[in-house]
Amino acid sequence: MKNIFKRTVFLLLLFPGFAQSQTRTGHAVGIKSFSYPTKQISDDLFGVFFEDLSYAADGGLYAELIQNRSFEYSASDRKGWNSLTDWEYTTKGFGYGTISVETSHPINPNNPHYVVLDIDDPGQNGVGITNLGYDGIRLKKGELYNFSIYVNQLSLKSIPVEAKLCGKEGEIYGVFKFKTNGKGWHKYAGSIQATSNTDSAMLTVVATQKSILALDEISLFPQQTFKNEHNGLRADLAQAIADIKPKFMRFPGGCLVHGDGVNNIYRWKNTIGPVENRIQQRNIWSYHQSVGLGFYEYFRFCEDIGAKPLPVIAAGVSCQNSGGTWQIGSTGQKALPFTQMKSYIQDILDLIEYANGPANSTWGAKRAAAGHPKPFHLQYIGIGNEDKQTDTFRSRFKMIYEAVRAKHPEITIVGTVGPSPSGEDYDLGWNFADRLSVPIVDEHFYETPRWFLDNNHRYDNYSRSRSGIYIGEYASQGNKLINALSEAAFMTSLERNGDIVKMASYAPLLANVNHTSWNPNLIYFNNDTLVRTANYYVQQLFSVNEGDTYIPDIISFERDKLSKDSTLASSCVRDSKTGDIILKIVNAGPQSAIAKINLSALKVTGNLIVSKTLTGNPNDQNSLDHPKAVIPIDTRIKITDLDSFTAPAYSLTVIRFAAKVN
Ligand code: AHR
Repeated sequence: MKNIFKRTVFLLLLFPGFAQSQTRTGHAVGIKSFSYPTKQISDDLFGVFFEDLSYAADGGLYAELIQNRSFEYSASDRKGWNSLTDWEYTTKGFGYGTISVETSHPINPNNPHYVVLDIDDPGQNGVGITNLGYDGIRLKKGELYNFSIYVNQLSLKSIPVEAKLCGKEGEIYGVFKFKTNGKGWHKYAGSIQATSNTDSAMLTVVATQKSILALDEISLFPQQTFKNEHNGLRADLAQAIADIKPKFMRFPGGCLVHGDGVNNIYRWKNTIGPVENRIQQRNIWSYHQSVGLGFYEYFRFCEDIGAKPLPVIAAGVSCQNSGGTWQIGSTGQKALPFTQMKSYIQDILDLIEYANGPANSTWGAKRAAAGHPKPFHLQYIGIGNEDKQTDTFRSRFKMIYEAVRAKHPEITIVGTVGPSPSGEDYDLGWNFADRLSVPIVDEHFYETPRWFLDNNHRYDNYSRSRSGIYIGEYASQGNKLINALSEAAFMTSLERNGDIVKMASYAPLLANVNHTSWNPNLIYFNNDTLVRTANYYVQQLFSVNEGDTYIPDIISFERDKLSKDSTLASSCVRDSKTGDIILKIVNAGPQSAIAKINLSALKVTGNLIVSKTLTGNPNDQNSLDHPKAVIPIDTRIKITDLDSFTAPAYSLTVIRFAAKVN
């Protein structure tokens, strides 16, 4: 009893808010007669951050295989781009005619550009256009691909059209043929079975008779998308994200949210409804957003993987790096005029209705029309991203914040405290959050491994009476094992402080290796395959082994007795759903370390347990060529071995076992 008292006093000194969250008997977390002080951990601690950066959406998670499918690429996306970027005019069988891009009679004014073919002579193979996909189209032998196209027959007679999956040397991997059935825009669709495996196919669409026709919205999807969803996601990438078992997913970014100038702010309403009617736009990362992966698809994906949705909306101001992103010549933060704020705020309220409103409400009806009458159970909404803390920002944030709170007190708002772990925006952001009592604020760290090791105690002394924390973006500047281990060490501190650190997400999540505009990332991919980095495995090991109760003083390192070693870190959590105890032991240093594990408070059931260890050379890293340089290995150990456990040099060990708490 005396010891417990001493320990509690010590913890109160170390963690000033500890008394609010800890319980000696553990009633708040359902642990009966547990003799240690415990701390409740947020239910949503480990999640993922998704941003359409480095071709993460178009050319990545969004399963569309046709690049620039609606001819909306332009020089404003990227210098040199135009409506025919990634397309070639095809007259291979000695046909001839003309091709033009027109805008006078589009399918929808939101999708203004389309191609007109005026074919004088179709030759032997027809005249048309060929799409090169995203670095080629990946086909899997025997699998079905859903092709669709809008055609406006401009000449009198019905026109025969062929859609062919082709190789560079003229190989044909599958064909779909149809005839137009009258004037005006009509959608034609069919499936094509691939006859070969390849990662460099192209899609050719040709008309095979003298004719005039307009083409738009040319699409090809693998039939096997993630969970076979329509307008769905690339199955392997989506599965890799699902395998993390994230508790939440933030979308659609980062800087993409507040955009490059006010006209580039991400507007969720532009991203729902039939894909051919959505309003596309330039991506702040210098490419194009088809918004085929829009808010409906984000919500649906969150539901499919059991992650709570965390949409982030700009605070009515653009990125402070606007106008030459990240370069000299930036025009800085720009704001929506106050005259537009009322309708901007209404859009945010409408988003909440879109996600949660009944199917007969105005916006709930749009969700239902898309195929989801039931609500998406939105609980969080982020306002702002790393914004410069100016009066311009603050005034708009406050207007949004107060309007959302007044109409939807059930929604938890996440504010922002700048791009760095300290500095002017951080301080001003926290002061502002204090003034408004913002429930949660978003901190970002792109720092060195050393910083992550040295900041293991960052949150121990944070006030428990201020805003909760969402670490919305963090990464230790590399994908080597040592980076991943420094992140793991830091993550043990997030569990220890899981009472005030409500959420955390590594960033960014995905990068196409051929179009990478930010490093490091959690998952790298090309059009064929993907690689899970060492950092990915750390995220996964923590997320699938999250607990709801933190139990202090279970693990101690022998070396720490001499002097505190920042390369060593550990945590002990309990998952009350399974009753399991989970230990995480990080050794980010070059020598093995002995950990003493005090099991006396935990009545362990069973003798043999399986631990997972991520270890190797600190400079090892996974790549597409070497995807398994660093992967978790299972080891069977005896529970008695835990009395004195040797943590190998450069390792993360996760040990999970059933226990009855005494
Ligand atoms: O994660 C990449 C970028 O880093 C995000 O878009 C931005 O919020 C941060 O600066």
